Amino acid sequence: MTRLTPATRTTPKTLLSRATTVLIATSLVSIPLLAQQPGLEPTRTQHAMVVSIHHDATDAGVAILKQGGNAVDAAVAVGFALAVVYPAAGNIGGGGFMLIRDKHGKSHFLDYREKAPAAASRDMYLDAQGNVVPGMSLVGYKASGVPGSVAGLAYAQKHYGKLTLAEDMAPSIKLASEGYLLSEEEARALQSKNLTRFPTSTKIFQRDGDFYKEGDTFKQPELAATLIRISKDPDEFYKGAMAKQIADFEKTGGGLITEADLAAYEVKDRKPIKGKYHGYTLITAPPPSSGGIVLVEILNILSTYDLSKLGPGGAETKDRSAAQVHIITEAFRRAYMDRGDYLGDPDFNKLPLKQMAKMKYAAAWRSSIDPAKPTPSASLVRPAGFMPPPPQATPVKESTQTTHFSIVDADGNAVSSTYTLNGGFGSGVTVEGLGFLLNNEMDDFTSKIGVPNVYGLIQGPANSIAPGKRPLSAMTPTIVTTSGHWFKRGKLAYVIGTPGGSTIITTVANDIISTIDNGLNIQQAADAPRFHHQYLPDRLDLEKKFPIPPAEELKAMGYTINRLAVADEKNPGVWGDSELIAIDPKTRELLGGHDSRRSFGKAAGY
Ligand code: DON
Repeated sequence: MTRLTPATRTTPKTLLSRATTVLIATSLVSIPLLAQQPGLEPTRTQHAMVVSIHHDATDAGVAILKQGGNAVDAAVAVGFALAVVYPAAGNIGGGGFMLIRDKHGKSHFLDYREKAPAAASRDMYLDAQGNVVPGMSLVGYKASGVPGSVAGLAYAQKHYGKLTLAEDMAPSIKLASEGYLLSEEEARALQSKNLTRFPTSTKIFQRDGDFYKEGDTFKQPELAATLIRISKDPDEFYKGAMAKQIADFEKTGGGLITEADLAAYEVKDRKPIKGKYHGYTLITAPPPSSGGIVLVEILNILSTYDLSKLGPGGAETKDRSAAQVHIITEAFRRAYMDRGDYLGDPDFNKLPLKQMAKMKYAAAWRSSIDPAKPTPSASLVRPAGFMPPPPQATPVKESTQTTHFSIVDADGNAVSSTYTLNGGFGSGVTVEGLGFLLNNEMDDFTSKIGVPNVYGLIQGPANSIAPGKRPLSAMTPTIVTTSGHWFKRGKLAYVIGTPGGSTIITTVANDIISTIDNGLNIQQAADAPRFHHQYLPDRLDLEKKFPIPPAEELKAMGYTINRLAVADEKNPGVWGDSELIAIDPKTRELLGGHDSRRSFGKAAGY
């Protein structure tokens, strides 16, 4: 018998037939029903907005806002709630970034990325012959970096929130102890083989083999108890009894994280990267993310093209014209070459960020773009005279689960946050007695110099493993404002971000181009067919819904096309999950764009 998906599992945008019930039940959304059909109109609210991949997490954020919390309180609530209802990527055993822009225009970038344990070393994933041991940096105890999420969310609440940590965490504790309803997609995801390998994970997420089904309520009492302890004293995770529990557990499985590693973990409050694009200011992710600086370089290269004239090509091409995709791809190719050669943890390397952000450098790159055909990556030559000589190039792996959420509160404070376990369900290992999964972020480091990896993404030795170092990330939480002046602050325009490993930066760039150049509304921008190029491998990736005519034209121009047409477990045919907010420049209403590629997310507010 097919079970009906319970009403609370329904998002207004995905199931119009049940939208009335949902709207009455939640009374969060104040727009006509038709306007919420996927691909048509954004979700529209007057005061505040939360957009995330899970409706229960979105509801947690909205509840906190209504309780008098600000955008940071809501972000803390959403972050902890996702750790309960989206265990593939939401987490307390991973790490991430939170970009905050307050109502006065001041911005902060909280870096709570994982750190390599003290016992980590450059060649730790190599065998005696010097070969990479397959899976070692991805699966199991040794794949985890020291988690930063608890420290990061607690830091955000303490320094920038209005409510207490216990108040911000109340919704997540309730979701863990009382449970949440699983949709078919979510129940299926819990059958992940990554979890089956480890008894502590099988017990919780797979009921020891009696797999959860659609419509089941998934309760996590161990996680609830852990969250209650954190809500009383978040330091316990790093210095108290909980730290000892984590370290003891790591020891039993051959993991590297010790009590000393946990005690040494610290959040970094960094200065965001800033850039300009067509009258807007970009506030975005600095290293250890490669995202912001590469995004700025891409948009600098594109800034003198009239992209709107080259595209978007109209409805029949789903707003993707070959001419526009070509130019954007050539900018991606060039910026990703720099990404690979230069970037790593800024606390361990001197990075040429100023040079990468220079308009003159972008202009020099631009002059090598042929408007009619692609430049093969193998023949790409970096313009001379701008950058220091790159260190020797090395490969790196990136993979598949992360999540982003965007929030604006009634005062105009904004949060853009992306956090991750790295791969889906991270290392697959659940900490015994504490009920949470550990990350496999160590795989974001370079395992071995000179060996191409499955993704073919290359990076320099700046990203090799060292104790206490943070692995290079692509996560790009971004806030866009109108350009201000010294006497007048810019106005909030967009809150943007997505998961997707190496495709994060190109997806964020495309979201910005879709709205600013192509005039799409924020919902259409989230749903627009994606394309991606990362310099190497030299191929243009297209989502399965990318329209055929421009794809054929691009092929004829000389691109090697990789169309993700076949959807299976390894290749869903799509990537990313943009969770976006725009601010209507005239009415100042909030417009939410939830990525329709996922069925259980939600944009909501009041
Ligand atoms: O930090 C990074 O760039 C990666 N660990 C992110 C992985 C990711 O986005 C996978 N998501 N689908």
